[in-house]
Amino acid sequence: MNNDPVTTTHTLDAGAAVTTTTLVHPATAGREWWRSAVIYQVYPRSFADADGDGLGDLAGVTSRLGHLTRLGVDAVWLSPFYTSPQHDAGYDVADYRQVDPRFGTLTDADALLEKAHRLGLKVIVDLVPNHTSNEHAWFQAALAAAPGSPERERYVFREGRGEHGELAPTNWISVFGGPAWSRVTEADGSPGQWYLHLFDVTQPDLNWENEEVRLELESILRFWLDRGVDGFRVDVAHGLVKDQSFPDWGHRTDMVSGHDDEGGEDELGDVRTGGHADPGPSPYWDQPGVHEIYRRWRRVLESYDGDRCLVAEAWADGPEKIAAYTRPDEMHQAFNFDFLSTPWDAELLRESITGGLGAADAVGAPCTWVLSNHDVVRAASRLGLAKTGKGPNGIGADDPQPDAEQGLRRARAAALLMLALPGSAYLYQGEELGLPEHTTLPDELREDPAYVRTGRAEKGRDGCRVPLPWEADAPGFGFSPNGATWLPQPADWASYAVDTQKGVPGSTLETYRAALRLRRDYRLGTGSLAWVDGLDDCAQESVLAFTNREVLVVANLGATPVELSLGVELVHASGPLGQGTTGGLLVPTDTTVWVRPVQPERSEPAR
Ligand code: GLC
Repeated sequence: MNNDPVTTTHTLDAGAAVTTTTLVHPATAGREWWRSAVIYQVYPRSFADADGDGLGDLAGVTSRLGHLTRLGVDAVWLSPFYTSPQHDAGYDVADYRQVDPRFGTLTDADALLEKAHRLGLKVIVDLVPNHTSNEHAWFQAALAAAPGSPERERYVFREGRGEHGELAPTNWISVFGGPAWSRVTEADGSPGQWYLHLFDVTQPDLNWENEEVRLELESILRFWLDRGVDGFRVDVAHGLVKDQSFPDWGHRTDMVSGHDDEGGEDELGDVRTGGHADPGPSPYWDQPGVHEIYRRWRRVLESYDGDRCLVAEAWADGPEKIAAYTRPDEMHQAFNFDFLSTPWDAELLRESITGGLGAADAVGAPCTWVLSNHDVVRAASRLGLAKTGKGPNGIGADDPQPDAEQGLRRARAAALLMLALPGSAYLYQGEELGLPEHTTLPDELREDPAYVRTGRAEKGRDGCRVPLPWEADAPGFGFSPNGATWLPQPADWASYAVDTQKGVPGSTLETYRAALRLRRDYRLGTGSLAWVDGLDDCAQESVLAFTNREVLVVANLGATPVELSLGVELVHASGPLGQGTTGGLLVPTDTTVWVRPVQPERSEPAR
């Protein structure tokens, strides 16, 4: 595959001679739906509640699918709804083949799939293979069994260090803070072995050296494929295999970006990995052995009809390492969190986009784009902070508050930038409403294990998980029939409600809807990106400009408005535009436009 960027100088319109660098070669793109799909993440706890217990459920999701078809997405990814004690909001699975009664039944899951498919939506479900819940039958059996038993071999049990085994086997630190090992009490009441949990103490890591574990997870894949799901989002895909020599590596990994912005020591005395500084190879993230697991999974998926897909949540260093998960015989997509973590800065974003596209292109996979999910501060708030980038792990009432107006303006501009990029894009529920983070949640209501495990130093992720506002005038903004909501919604969310924005030109919801329609009309998801340099007098350090098919995208991240003097026809804009002094389109700060260059009418040659 020839992946060298092609640089050409040509004329974009009669006035502007520009340089373009084409990055993605359309020839490498296939026709499968997931290559260009817009996939909407439903967080079932907070999407819609049908039974009135204040927690969302599958029947609620089914009842609101019309919102997603009107919005114009191609697929839905459902965060976990399986049987779980909910110590990590369902990412602690006790039974992978059952729906938690809080969310409904298997019949409800079938009904959701059936309706989604009837509406033309694909459905991806979450799979959590790195760890189970401590309430999973396997872990309960392991606790009851003796050291060295086959039951313990399904997890990572080790003897402790120290004279009496009183010290953890390694100094590994949980992603949620605190030690990654906990000691069990053996059946005879004596202090016993230690088990590994890279996340919460209630999330014991599975032992992927054990073939029984591999076969069980493949059987779970088949269970859901047989029910008709179109794919899986694979949780912590980079974590399954551990270095069997169990060396010390005492660094705390930050969620999503895989590294910490600040470095140094945090409040718990945990050593943070520190920006991109290299803390040395991790003995449990991104081990080469994980790839063989996904090769086997790929073969399982390919034994089914339809284009079923695997999406990796993998925090690895740099776009090439992430793209390795999407080689032709592995997964189909991997989340590109670098884009999400990049500060609001034209040059850095350009670098990130170029890197992501190039790496994905090199393995023939689509690049993915995501701005928000259930693990990070919502983009509309993150981009309103003084320091943009991945953002803190949650915001509390005593923390500096985001600039809401600036955050929303930037989030909309970022969305139009993202949705014009070739590849597949992910939207997180509520992002289409411009929902901000709940930054003043009462601390006593927080449920994220990271809040407690960091000694309440990090507020955690609850603020991005607040139940959606559907109807401005209904109790609980229409989230549930009786107004119950498992987390309180801010009082001013009426202005974000779906029914407030529906049909209102210029609202965030209508801006997203139009963007998705135009993205489809112009086939931007399967196009190629060509950076445009030399456009008017745009300062390259504050403007991103590229073409994808016939659309020219200009995002102004600078402090001053930018006037497009070339003849253009407006396709879409993330916010209000002005008119420049020479009559051209004026693109204000933190605004993205999609335009089509128009050729000036040629005058008839003189005879
Ligand atoms: C993933 C999920 C996150 C969860 C963690 C442990 O990163 O996105 O929500 O807490 O895995 O399963």
